[in-house]
Amino acid sequence: MAKLDIYQQLAVICDSHEYPIYIGANFLTDSELLNRHVDAGQVLIVTNDTLAPLYLEQVLQSFTSLQCDVVILPDGEQHKNEKNLFTIYDTLIKNNHHRDTTLVALGGGVIGDITGFAAATYQRGVRFIQLPTTLLAQVDASIGGKTAINHPLGKNMIGCFHQPHAVIMDLNTLETLPMREFRAGLAEVIKYGFLVGGEFLNTLQTVLADELTGISMEQLASLIAKCCHIKAEIVQIDERETGRRALLNLGHTFAHALEAYTHYQRWLHGEAVAIGLYCAALLSHQLGYLDKTSLDLVDHLLATAKLPRRIPKEIDLVALQTIMFKDKKIKNKTLHFVLMRTLGDCYIEALITEENLRKLLIEAVQGDQQ
Ligand SMILES: NC(=O)c1ccc[n+]([C@@H]2O[C@H](COP(=O)([O-])OP(=O)(O)OC[C@H]3O[C@@H](n4cnc5c(N)ncnc54)[C@H](O)[C@@H]3O)[C@@H](O)[C@H]2O)c1
Repeated sequence: MAKLDIYQQLAVICDSHEYPIYIGANFLTDSELLNRHVDAGQVLIVTNDTLAPLYLEQVLQSFTSLQCDVVILPDGEQHKNEKNLFTIYDTLIKNNHHRDTTLVALGGGVIGDITGFAAATYQRGVRFIQLPTTLLAQVDASIGGKTAINHPLGKNMIGCFHQPHAVIMDLNTLETLPMREFRAGLAEVIKYGFLVGGEFLNTLQTVLADELTGISMEQLASLIAKCCHIKAEIVQIDERETGRRALLNLGHTFAHALEAYTHYQRWLHGEAVAIGLYCAALLSHQLGYLDKTSLDLVDHLLATAKLPRRIPKEIDLVALQTIMFKDKKIKNKTLHFVLMRTLGDCYIEALITEENLRKLLIEAVQGDQQ
């Protein structure tokens, strides 16, 4: 059996239960670890047709002594829908999975979200384990219990909170992740840097300046662990996003609007978040909070990660602004933005006028700088 390398272990304490996050290597072949959080004799692995040929066989080896069924969904955000949700339910019901079954999500955020939602709703809730295989899912989507599917009229419109029983991150899986997907995950890592600032932001600057060359598995695990730690701390205080958890949406109001405007075709989520982070920083600067040096640093960090930062010229800003006012983050018909006082000191601002927003969007459009 392959050697199990645990580089970092954290715990998330939620209302319903406490669960571990394991970060390391060779986990997908470790039968003891994969079985540690399975309750009874039944498992359903959910994955997609890109990941199945890469990792399914090794995961299956861990569950040979149990009833283990598999659902392989087509790859893609457009498949995070009710049809595939019912494919998961159908398999569970046809194979007589009971309330003590465990669902295992083997994949990125799409697989994690739909499997989590299936686990939340099958027989009023069963346990599930996340095996995240993208950087974005490792630092963000697999932790915190947000589960969802898309509705034809809106992304993540149908969902609920349901925490996993374990998050097991095998960093070896990142070796097959396309570089563009890895960079999109870096946008979320950088977001955490802006949220906490300080030493973590300095470390990020150093590793990004070196284009992550020579970064060891242990160092990468430690960066990922820091992100997980920041997210876990916020989730523990505000599991259902009634307050502080909204800080994690830094850059996301812009990102969601850009994604919706381009029908989710132009950018990966993390790429849209990168533009959103720049917009949030620019708006903070325009309002007199964030200084110019910090704004430039935001731009520079995103550029070193080779992420987009500006709104393309051809985008209709009026239409984009209209989409923003349909965002889920609307409270009392007011859009809430996460802004930066300094790097490391973010807050939720409810008093952004349409004029503020219009001015911001005009200035955030791609000019000579890119
Ligand atoms: N629940 C949450 O808190 C939360 C947070 C952020 C994002 N999300 C959701 O996550 C989704 C985006 O997640 P994502 O960026 O991981 O996208 P994804 O799940 O679509 O994965 C990206 C692509 O990489 C492929 N892939 C995944 N792992 C791979 C690997 N190791 N090797 C080779 N290919 C691999 C996938 O098949 C896919 O084609 C969105 O649906 C978003 O709404 C959820």
